[in-house]
Amino acid sequence: MTPPTMRHDGRSEMRWIPWVAGAFAALFLIALSLALWLGGEPGGGGRATGATAYEGLGGEFELTSHEGERIALSDFEGEVVVIYFGYAYCPDVCPVHLTLLGAALDQLSSRAQSQIQPLFITVDPARDTPEMLAEYVPHFSERLIGLTGTDEEIAAVAGDYAVGYERVEDPDFGGYLMNHSSIFYVINRQGQIVDLIRPDVTPAQMAATLRSHL
Ligand code: NI
Repeated sequence: MTPPTMRHDGRSEMRWIPWVAGAFAALFLIALSLALWLGGEPGGGGRATGATAYEGLGGEFELTSHEGERIALSDFEGEVVVIYFGYAYCPDVCPVHLTLLGAALDQLSSRAQSQIQPLFITVDPARDTPEMLAEYVPHFSERLIGLTGTDEEIAAVAGDYAVGYERVEDPDFGGYLMNHSSIFYVINRQGQIVDLIRPDVTPAQMAATLRSHL
């Protein structure tokens, strides 16, 4: 037999359910809008963009290009820079995303293209030597510059751009794979991040976003 107090408690709990559900729904909506604000809409629509939106993210770096030259972000002052982090051994994700970047650049006028500098920064400096990158980057765009450096240099730039990467042992791919975050950083003529482009956009959407920052 159920004691009367139990019934009372049961009813009290029932009355809390809508409140708890409402609180969770509100938290979910807050988290969702925060995620959209941070991650950006595909193609950059529907959200205010600009340098202030990404304050504290990105910044200057100096790395070694696929031609063996030391190159700094500030060398491209006056141009719009697009950066993607990845690695040449990447079996599927990086080639797909770099193909997207190349296709987006192809959709722009030659004048627009001349104002945009695409950069590919490796998260696998042990294997991505300048020579390795020199073979890899021209597959996607003649204008793409591959950048590598010491472990410390790569760790520092990845930290500044909030890029996560992690070595995963895998005998099928030269010993290991690298898990890494995949997003395109759009940097204005003053060297500040002004937009992030998710890699699930179409080449036309990416081209439109890049054009909007020229
Ligand atoms: Ni990859």
